[in-house]
Amino acid sequence: MEKINNNLCRYKNYNFVNGFTTAEHIDSLQSFDIRDSDVLVVTYPKSGTIWTQQIIISICELDGGLNEYPNNLEQMPWLEYTKGREDFSLRPSPRFFTSHLTPALMPPGLKDKKAKIIYVMRNPKDNIVSYFHFNCNSTFMETPKSFDGFLEEYLSGKVGGSSWFDHIRVWHSKRDQYNILFLSYEDMVLDLKEVVTKICNFLGKSLSDAAIEQVVEKSTFNNMKKDSKANYEFLPKEAVKKDFMRKGKIGDWKNTFTAAQSQRVDQLLHERLGDMSLKFIWE
Ligand code: A3P
Repeated sequence: MEKINNNLCRYKNYNFVNGFTTAEHIDSLQSFDIRDSDVLVVTYPKSGTIWTQQIIISICELDGGLNEYPNNLEQMPWLEYTKGREDFSLRPSPRFFTSHLTPALMPPGLKDKKAKIIYVMRNPKDNIVSYFHFNCNSTFMETPKSFDGFLEEYLSGKVGGSSWFDHIRVWHSKRDQYNILFLSYEDMVLDLKEVVTKICNFLGKSLSDAAIEQVVEKSTFNNMKKDSKANYEFLPKEAVKKDFMRKGKIGDWKNTFTAAQSQRVDQLLHERLGDMSLKFIWE
């Protein structure tokens, strides 16, 4: 892995957090044995990943048969980050994973279309603001000097593992190769029950209406904030200074973006993804 700064290293055209994984592990994913019962959440960071984890875990908990793990991170670990974890191939089924990787780095066995992927996308302006605050508050990411500087880095693909634009394009354009459900953060905010029902159906679980309501309750912003298994407060305070659960809103970008910054994102969206009939909800 090529170290690019104190926080990130690069391998196979992707940026990884220093010290959390190895080239050998990333290579090993190419022969990682995927099971039909595997379920993965895939996102670009700060798109509602831990929220989706909470929904999936709550559904499977009520449906029965979930293995016991102390918190959502252990229940649904990042596929690309193994430090301190057991060998994933030894995990009992059903296995749950989370990933920010692009398809090229994913286990090829996922293309057999039986394992399930839930992909969550968020409008890029809220995504950028959420990411900015996250990097300001975490010690394993570089602290941005200014929002404007951060925005430029983000737009040139230097912030996440890959560029947001590439992540969205490549996952959407390869969707026919996977058993995949596409969701948006905004749909989750606007009608959580509908999204919970969609996820439930996709996972092939039949929960009663009352059980669906229970999942919705466990997955609201306020309830997750109080839920120590879900809210990532179990991470050491020296790694993350503030809560993972920050605002949980659509349109918070308006409190940070200037009109010029907003136009710049609109322009790039048009140039990079304009051919892809994607709809974003901005407020
Ligand atoms: P904000 O920083 O805009 O508040 P990820 O899990 O991919 O890192 O995404 C983090 C974002 O999801 C944060 O956004 C966080 O507040 C939001 N989030 C997490 N759980 C949520 C929930 N139950 N409802 C709404 N937003 C939620």
